[in-house]
Amino acid sequence: MDSSKFTQDLPDWPKQTVRGHTIEGYRYTSKAFADQEFDHMWTKVWLLLGREDEMPKPGDYQQEEVGPESIIMVRQDDGSIKAFYNVCHHRGQRLVSAPKGKVRRFVCPYHSWAWTREGVLDFVQDADDFPQGNPCGKLTLTEVKCESFAGFIWVNMDPESISLKDYLGPVWDDWKGYNIQNWKRYLAKSTVAPVNWKVIMDNFNESYHVNTVHKPKGANVEKLRIHSGVDTSYKTTRFDMSDYGHNRMIMLGGYAGPAINKEGTVGEPLATILREWEVDPADYTGRGEDTREGLQAARRKLGTERGYDYFDNLNNSQLTDAYHYTLFPNFAVSLWVDGFHFLRARPHPTDPEQCIFDNWWYSPQPEEAPDQVRTTAGLVDREAEVEHELFNMGEQSMGLTIDQDLSIFPAQQKGMRSRAYKGAYLAGQESRVSRLHELIDDYIAGANK
Ligand code: FES
Ligand SMILES: [Fe+2]
Repeated sequence: MDSSKFTQDLPDWPKQTVRGHTIEGYRYTSKAFADQEFDHMWTKVWLLLGREDEMPKPGDYQQEEVGPESIIMVRQDDGSIKAFYNVCHHRGQRLVSAPKGKVRRFVCPYHSWAWTREGVLDFVQDADDFPQGNPCGKLTLTEVKCESFAGFIWVNMDPESISLKDYLGPVWDDWKGYNIQNWKRYLAKSTVAPVNWKVIMDNFNESYHVNTVHKPKGANVEKLRIHSGVDTSYKTTRFDMSDYGHNRMIMLGGYAGPAINKEGTVGEPLATILREWEVDPADYTGRGEDTREGLQAARRKLGTERGYDYFDNLNNSQLTDAYHYTLFPNFAVSLWVDGFHFLRARPHPTDPEQCIFDNWWYSPQPEEAPDQVRTTAGLVDREAEVEHELFNMGEQSMGLTIDQDLSIFPAQQKGMRSRAYKGAYLAGQESRVSRLHELIDDYIAGANK
């Protein structure tokens, strides 16, 4: 089956050449390599760091770490957002330690120097004791470039960088119709994982592992590669890559496929989803290849009246299919018609063999929707206000699918230290893994700015 006939109304992304060079173990274990990544890559790229709706009022801030740096994003009086390095220019103290809060001014906890929300120093103790003259009004916090898209705040530590829109390129065009800025967070679990950040990103850059790590019950399901109504076979999957290292992988969804069990009936969770859209799964017994179009038609017909106003901006494929994006360098999203599965891996401040991994979920707020939201970690009440949780890996479940992924990673990290491991031997469908590493090397070589 050729997936392009299902997604033909989507423009192609520019063609990329993957060079396919060696990806050796030191890339995951070496502190020297991690330092190169930080100096030449992390400090040159746009990074998704905050969320607009977490800081609605002037003075609301968020503080997030990227490797050894910490960035403050703060809402200004005019509604815009500025970002600053979280460091006091007196003697280097971090100004804030909480992940979010509200301030009139940033008052340093060491000697009480106070910085306005615009980043200007406007109070020091003993101002007349500075031989250089009173520093108030002269010193400013060091600003970081900051732009918003899809309700997320992105920062770039390189003052010379291209715009976020140019950087995201076709991803910007794909996402803008969903109105993700209005979606609400329903899951926010973060864990400190004992693996290099690229172990995690490599995994989200391929679906080759799916039939092993996420092995479903039932022999036919394995053979046919239909998981939760998604056809995971690479033969029916569409792959695209962008100029700046972002990737798109589209799998057919809403799809029961050829008979998935002996009776030829539609399985769960697709059967429930069909019923939610007034489609009787029994009508599709023995013809599971047609459920995708049936669900698309139902969503097209009922979506607007149920308050999914953005459905009109989407093509039919987007109404059912699984759109997996990996954004260079560290962000992966499974974008569903009603869900944004947010996956991010950030480098540890000092240890290349640890990272901070986020598994979050956002969903839209239509007027008429089920009382519970289906997330990757189960059902969550639509009215719930979900707080962020951070824990060491294994202390809590991240949800079944992500737990399955995580269960693999520590032993792979150990394998990266073996003298016998000579580097990855990749399948064609793992080209996005190659691309991630090639781009990192290009940044280190100075070929990308
Ligand atoms: S280090 Fe900030 S006031 Fe001294
Ligand atoms: Fe997985």
